[in-house]
Amino acid sequence: MTRKRVVVIEGEDAAPEAVRPSVALLERLGLDIEWIHPPVGQRGIDACGSAFPDAARAAIDASDATLFGATSGRSVAALLYLRWGKKTYANLRPARYLAGYRSPLARPEGVDLAIVRENLEDLYVGVEGDLETLAALRLESATARRPIADLAPGRFALKVISEAGTDRVARFAFELARRRARRGRPGRVTCATKHNMLPRSDGLFRERVSAMARGYPDVAFESFIVDDFAQRLVTEPQRFDVVVLPNLYGDILSDLAGGVIGGLGVAPSGCYGDGYAYFESAHGTAPDLAGQNAINPTATLLSAALLLEYLGFEAAAQRLSGAIERVYAEGRVRTRDQGGNASTTDFCAAVERQLG
Ligand code: IPM
Ligand code: MN
Repeated sequence: MTRKRVVVIEGEDAAPEAVRPSVALLERLGLDIEWIHPPVGQRGIDACGSAFPDAARAAIDASDATLFGATSGRSVAALLYLRWGKKTYANLRPARYLAGYRSPLARPEGVDLAIVRENLEDLYVGVEGDLETLAALRLESATARRPIADLAPGRFALKVISEAGTDRVARFAFELARRRARRGRPGRVTCATKHNMLPRSDGLFRERVSAMARGYPDVAFESFIVDDFAQRLVTEPQRFDVVVLPNLYGDILSDLAGGVIGGLGVAPSGCYGDGYAYFESAHGTAPDLAGQNAINPTATLLSAALLLEYLGFEAAAQRLSGAIERVYAEGRVRTRDQGGNASTTDFCAAVERQLG
């Protein structure tokens, strides 16, 4: 296997405190990976007068993947490039309960689902405007049956669901379900949309995912209205395997899924395109924890395990997630969000001891 190149972008506030000891731990796994630290965010501004200098962009282009902390603003240009520039259209957010996680559920055992969020379209195309500008289009509200411009003054946002954009994320979800299938437990894909109110846009998403299902007869398929799905995610999370969602619902419900198993401190994330992927915890920068060596690095470490898997280091990925699993099962070293008082670096040291 040729040497892999991974860009590290630490991000802001408490995020670097999770990323640094995680990368140090990964370095000790002895894998053929070159870690590249281009100046981004404040470091980019200090070194080159830009939060996302051309050199950082070139480093990403020359790499196999990026490990990203989290951003509260300074590193946002890099994040936009990793998402829309590198076309990482499928955001995988696994929610697997591990014994020892502080879950609010009475019986969280067996929760093992993976949200696949469409990552580039929907309301995130970022087209907003003034209602007055819609007058010329003579758009009529399907519910109020009045010209939409009559609601002015006010604003609108555009929700875009494309055929190709839906097909590629649907294919990703079904391929994942196939890989996750175990003997005696076939893969299952669940789709959730608001197709009753949005029969054309969300209706299209649902139709394309349903059509994709026909090409995967070995994978079970079901579809829910998204509000009904939200309550099922809390009341019967064990029934779900792979869940494919349009961007906004996926953003919101993946945080909910994290909350169900033990909080955002343990919620990893990976964003995959056809030729590139980047990995980032689902949580934000936790500014309240900045400078305290207190952020839970589990989300970053589990995202790093997804990164290792993506790069083809499956055994190392298993070794890392197995070590994390054992730290939680033992329950002696827990960060504050999990009811303990271990520091970030204490937790990483405990994981390192469990690597075996
Ligand atoms: C996430 C975050 C981002 C998003 C923000 C920071 C743009 O909430 O990765 O889930 O909305 O996608
Ligand atoms: Mn989010």
